[in-house]
Amino acid sequence: MKKISISPSLLSADPLNFERAVREVEESGADALHIDVMDGHFVPNLTFGLPLIAALKKLTRLPLDVHIMVSNPDCVADSYLQAGADFLCFHIEASVHPYRTLQNIKKKGVKAGIALNPGSPASLIAPLLSTLDMVLLLSVNPGFSGQSFIPVVYEKLLEIQAWQDSGRCSQLIVAVDGGVAQENLPELVRHGANFFITGSHFFKSTDKKNTIKKLREAAQ
Ligand code: DX5
Ligand code: ZN
Repeated sequence: MKKISISPSLLSADPLNFERAVREVEESGADALHIDVMDGHFVPNLTFGLPLIAALKKLTRLPLDVHIMVSNPDCVADSYLQAGADFLCFHIEASVHPYRTLQNIKKKGVKAGIALNPGSPASLIAPLLSTLDMVLLLSVNPGFSGQSFIPVVYEKLLEIQAWQDSGRCSQLIVAVDGGVAQENLPELVRHGANFFITGSHFFKSTDKKNTIKKLREAAQ
């Protein structure tokens, strides 16, 4: 059985009840909490900032999986580390010095990741593999939850799987973010993904523990 991780995204939770949402994620048996930071510039939406992340850090022992969709990740990554990120993924499309930023993240003992928009090729991360802990493949255009899954990630997953098979990045966490549900999870696992973000699928469900259980079963 493959070890997979599931990280529900707070973006789909009721914004007036984040504490309750965090407790639901904890009780569901999920592995982490995905936090979508949007700056209204890199993506057309504005969401969470540093004070909320710092508050969540105090509230829960769940690892905070922080996805920053911001225009200047090289300048601001450090503040998200201080706020309490356990995983920090930034977009390569917005970064001028991705190698340096990854090194800085790793130096703090935080898992360092690159996020790739649907239109960006997997080859963009090839020169960074030696310093990369995680790749976050966007299977929707970033900015909103509840969008339809774009199958463009499958080809990228195969490319990454080939690198892993040749021993270039066997420990890489391969995450898929956007429109993930029970229906597409088996195919994503077959293509080598091992970390899944789930927003609307998780928060729309009434029995969240069962939703996580079903996702884990679908991965087998
Ligand atoms: C999109 C975000 C995703 C989003 C996923 O910009 O990065 O994390 O919350 O939500 P669903 O699973 O509903 O597509
Ligand atoms: Zn995300």
